[in-house]
Amino acid sequence: MDNKVFTKLSYGVYAVTTWDSGRPTGCIANSAMQITSNPATVAISINHNNYTNQCIAENGRFAISVLKEQTDPLVIGTLGFFSGRDTNKFEKVSYELKDYMPVVTDACGYIVCNVINKMETETHTVFLGEVVAGEVMSEEDPMTYAYYHKVIKGKSPKNAPTYLPEE
Ligand SMILES: Cc1cc2nc3c(=O)[nH]c(=O)nc-3n(C[C@H](O)[C@H](O)[C@H](O)COP(=O)(O)O)c2cc1C
Repeated sequence: MDNKVFTKLSYGVYAVTTWDSGRPTGCIANSAMQITSNPATVAISINHNNYTNQCIAENGRFAISVLKEQTDPLVIGTLGFFSGRDTNKFEKVSYELKDYMPVVTDACGYIVCNVINKMETETHTVFLGEVVAGEVMSEEDPMTYAYYHKVIKGKSPKNAPTYLPEE
């Protein structure tokens, strides 16, 4: 099996957010995709060890902020490489409320979902969300995973599905 074939799949880069007992929290995820259009549903895949996983399970809701090519690298640096278990991520990253959910301000769009189903894999939970709100926030280009990797030279940590061990 040639694992490099996975680098040929295309993704975006998103902030998946929710609440932790009244405090906003969340992580970076490339694994967000639209599943159906009517009713609109989306799916995300979140590692069992990520604090965001238990917060989404407890809260029953999540939001997806679509990051831009020009989004401040601090957003990915904070949400993607620290844990909400011991860090107040939104002390550094500014957010606004959309349909009662925290959404990253420095983004080009957001989607708010109610969890309607989930599937467990060995390492990740796939949450299926029914879309209850969403809006375009800016016409700037959304960040693709290829842009993050090739232009920003960003890497994926171990809990990301796109993680590839160094050769
Ligand atoms: C570009 C990128 C993509 C990522 N994609 C995912 C993903 O799809 N699912 C996931 O569980 N973690 C993903 N991660 C890793 C989490 O964002 C990271 O483990 C985070 O620190 C978890 O924080 P938490 O413990 O507060 O939930 C990604 C990270 C980066 C930088």
